[in-house]
Amino acid sequence: MPEYRWKAAVVTLSDKGYAGEREDKSGPLVCEMIGAAGYDVQEMILLPDECEEIKKCLLRLCDEDKMDIVFTTGGTGFAPRDCTPEATLAVADRNAPGIAEAMRAASMKITPRAMLSRGASVIRGQTLIINLPGSPKAVRENLEAILPSLDHGLVILTGRGGECGQ
Ligand code: MTE
Repeated sequence: MPEYRWKAAVVTLSDKGYAGEREDKSGPLVCEMIGAAGYDVQEMILLPDECEEIKKCLLRLCDEDKMDIVFTTGGTGFAPRDCTPEATLAVADRNAPGIAEAMRAASMKITPRAMLSRGASVIRGQTLIINLPGSPKAVRENLEAILPSLDHGLVILTGRGGECGQ
């Protein structure tokens, strides 16, 4: 049987990126890192910091496209338009706070500003949604902290334990 690879989508939230005023380096970096870890990256999306649009996108990725995992990057801070955690919590069935806690704990060893990310980690149906901060540096540091442990959670969440060779 071919090895199952986790179906993943990556969503960048950035007004400037969406307006073409800033190159999105974070979305491609998430894709690169999770791709190297064996994930099957099916979509990379760039959206403005608009809560309703983000919610709609997350609902589609979870309910219609049946992603195993959705990573967001950006919009987790204190800027007035930052609303990624609110959109994520709005579509959540269950909280999975340990992942966000682990990211902040690991990141606090690197910069005290890690406390300024409000990122959430939740479950909707059989999809895990994880908010990463926006900068490429933060993306790399946060993903490095959690990637090794995600596989076990996804196996339990999706029931794909038997066929998942990752
Ligand atoms: N986490 C790590 N590991 N490294 C970082 O450089 N930057 C912080 C924080 N988390 C950072 C980090 C900063 S400065 C902010 S403002 C918040 O993430 C929120 O980032 P966002 O608004 O781009 O999502």
